[in-house]
Amino acid sequence: MILVTGVNGQLGYDVIKELNKRNIECLGIDIKDLDITDDKAVNEYILNLKPECLIHCAAYTAVDRAEDEEEICTKVNVYGTENIAKVCKKIDAQMVYISTDYVFDGLGNKPFDVDGNINPLSVYGKTKYQGELKVKAILDKYFIVRISWVFGINGNNFIKTMLKLGAEKESLNVVCDQIGSPTYTADLASLLCDMVVSQKYGVYHATNEGTCSWAEFAEEIMKMAGFNCKINPIPTSEYPTKAVRPLNSRLSKKSLVDDGFNLLPRWEDALNRYLEEINYSKM
Ligand SMILES: NC(=O)c1ccc[n+]([C@@H]2O[C@H](COP(=O)([O-])OP(=O)(O)OC[C@H]3O[C@@H](n4cnc5c(N)ncnc54)[C@H](OP(=O)(O)O)[C@@H]3O)[C@@H](O)[C@H]2O)c1
Repeated sequence: MILVTGVNGQLGYDVIKELNKRNIECLGIDIKDLDITDDKAVNEYILNLKPECLIHCAAYTAVDRAEDEEEICTKVNVYGTENIAKVCKKIDAQMVYISTDYVFDGLGNKPFDVDGNINPLSVYGKTKYQGELKVKAILDKYFIVRISWVFGINGNNFIKTMLKLGAEKESLNVVCDQIGSPTYTADLASLLCDMVVSQKYGVYHATNEGTCSWAEFAEEIMKMAGFNCKINPIPTSEYPTKAVRPLNSRLSKKSLVDDGFNLLPRWEDALNRYLEEINYSKM
């Protein structure tokens, strides 16, 4: 049995969907079922269920708010993860921990290797990395999967924001100097399901293939959705946010390829299928 945390979020929702599609016994839970920061409750709940695998998709993900809420962000992303890893150790379950490109500082223009220089620029990035360290320290049977620029049917994301604004506005300013790769949760869920039956434990980067800037991503969304909204590329310096984001979020997929996993489809293809999935008819 596979237990999935964060089932009400973007990724957890699609992981459960994919497991069900593959007829793999699974249970998806969220904070109302189990608050992962409650160590006693985590212990009891998971010991009782004894899953063979836990895919941990729950997290504190409000990147800007985290700058003012370091304590709660740390509680969820570091100690919540530790609570889960400790029980996984007790019952010899494998654990999948989802991490982020925000563990890197985004300097340079080369893709970051899985063992590249860690230097998070934000509270969120720092706590996600500390979560990685907890998993590594406690477990042998773990996957750490760093992903970026996530979009899924269940939740808010950049694409949904662009579709809303594209319908209302003639032009939009979008940042053009942050480069990365979008990740479609439906594609990622399929890879995660392949991973958990592989026993090829380790650290991986997994995103859709190809890179773009947020402005290029926005342009493609407008094009596919049939909007005439013009995208004005602007530098990050003209769109300040509370949390600093890495400029270079390119992630190397070498460890995926080396271990024989399939790369995810290109991001344009994923975007096209996503618009179909959310029933966004092209005009
Ligand atoms: N979104 C991105 O662009 C992105 C990029 C890189 C990596 N990631 C990582 O990918 C994973 C999945 O992200 P996502 O976008 O699917 O996140 P999401 O949509 O924000 O979902 C996270 C879920 O975790 C739940 N949660 C929060 N605190 C909890 C607690 N104390 N106990 C139990 N559940 C709790 C949330 O419940 P509430 O909504 O009720 O708080 C929510 O349902 C996370 O590890 C995230 O750090 C995301």
